[in-house]
Amino acid sequence: MNLLELISTRKSVRKYLDKHIPDEDLRKILEAGRLAPSWMNVQSWKFILVKSQENKDLLSELSIGQQQVKNADALIVCVADTNAWEEAKITHIKNPALNPALQCDNGILIRTMEQVIYPISYMMLMAESLGVSSCIIGAMGNEVTQIQPEIYEKTKKVLNLADGQILSTIISLGYDANPTETVKQRKAFDDVVSLEKIGNNF
Ligand SMILES: Cc1cc2nc3c(=O)[nH]c(=O)nc-3n(C[C@H](O)[C@H](O)[C@H](O)COP(=O)(O)O)c2cc1C
Repeated sequence: MNLLELISTRKSVRKYLDKHIPDEDLRKILEAGRLAPSWMNVQSWKFILVKSQENKDLLSELSIGQQQVKNADALIVCVADTNAWEEAKITHIKNPALNPALQCDNGILIRTMEQVIYPISYMMLMAESLGVSSCIIGAMGNEVTQIQPEIYEKTKKVLNLADGQILSTIISLGYDANPTETVKQRKAFDDVVSLEKIGNNF
């Protein structure tokens, strides 16, 4: 299957078989994330592999009780690390447009959340190529949504997150319990793609 076919047939899967993903495949998925590109190669992310039921239950609670978080074989907790810009010490670039470390707090937050989308996409597609289905979970308590602050604080402690490390996304992983074909619900090509200016079809 080529990459476009893989992308076309991938879907979010929320019910999983009771079957373990081999560690070797989990490593490949995480490795795909590690190799993703980032602004100035700062790699402002951490990935936490979660296999224990205790942590899955806590993360399900954080993500307002989503069952696929509880029932997944494994989770990858994706952390946007806003501290990474300072740590990279890119002092020779003085223009804030080129150096997110010099942008306002909001700019750093947005840039850091932006970076982590790339490894998430890579990991999701790597998983798919290994026959492992996934669902991206964004609905949860964190600095962005500001819901469930107590559960979020507890989760940060359990996962050992430092200040500035934001739990941005969870990827739930497992083998599809109901592998039926679905038709992709997407806007038409011409609704999202233009040539030179919006409204001019390619
Ligand atoms: C940033 C982001 C956050 C998402 N959050 C959730 C979520 O919290 N729970 C969920 O069930 N699906 C979530 N999804 C999955 C979307 O609902 C799904 O990708 C979309 O409906 C398209 O369906 P498909 O992935 O099957 O093509 C999220 C997707 C993205 C990209």
